[in-house]
Amino acid sequence: MKGDHTGTLKQLAIMGALNSFADITSARLGESLGISQQAASKEILKLAEQKLVDRQIGQRGQRIMISRSGQELLKREYLEYKLLFEPTRNLQIHGALFSGLGEGRYYISQPRYKQQFAKKLMFTPYEGTLNVRVAPADMPLFETLTFSEGIRIDGFVSKGRTFGDVKCFLAMIQGLECSVIIPVRTHYTDVMEVIASRHLRTQLSLKDGDMVEVSVSIA
Ligand code: CDP
Repeated sequence: MKGDHTGTLKQLAIMGALNSFADITSARLGESLGISQQAASKEILKLAEQKLVDRQIGQRGQRIMISRSGQELLKREYLEYKLLFEPTRNLQIHGALFSGLGEGRYYISQPRYKQQFAKKLMFTPYEGTLNVRVAPADMPLFETLTFSEGIRIDGFVSKGRTFGDVKCFLAMIQGLECSVIIPVRTHYTDVMEVIASRHLRTQLSLKDGDMVEVSVSIA
């Protein structure tokens, strides 16, 4: 699906449909894509069906705007190119600490995860996660992690509960080794979770609201 549509979405964005509705005829779209008006018209219908664009029909013709999922598709393509052409090995991601509801402890303490952390990350994490609310300016960097491979930790079922696959990225937080952990099937979030062998709040004298820099390795 992605392969089929990113080219059209990109052209629509160039024609002004990225952040607002733009008057776009299928003839004009077809011309710029080098396809017939009919083919362009079909393509727009498909994009609308898949909710990648929103479409309004008015007296003066059709107006098109790329939807949120359309934008995500384009952004993903963009990040993939970025990774290809700018092989950044370390991403500096900034954010503010905050407390969660103690869920990190529950997950990190699962023996089946713990065994893999020890084997694949070479450390046994403190049983909890440090939550970092990623600064808006660093969200594109954080999203890069979603599309990067990382170190895979396999999910499992325990006592009837499913624990999903997660991936880890080796990182440094203010001079200490740590790892960023994210679910493989992630939903949109600005929360970055950090694990480390030590209790980071104690080691680094951190409290809620403090800004931290996490240098994440995506090599
Ligand atoms: O309550 P919350 O979900 O934020 O935390 P948790 O995952 O249950 O972890 C317990 C506490 O340890 C929290 O205050 C975390 O911020 C902190 N923590 C830490 O300082 N260093 C770690 N390596 C992991 C967690």
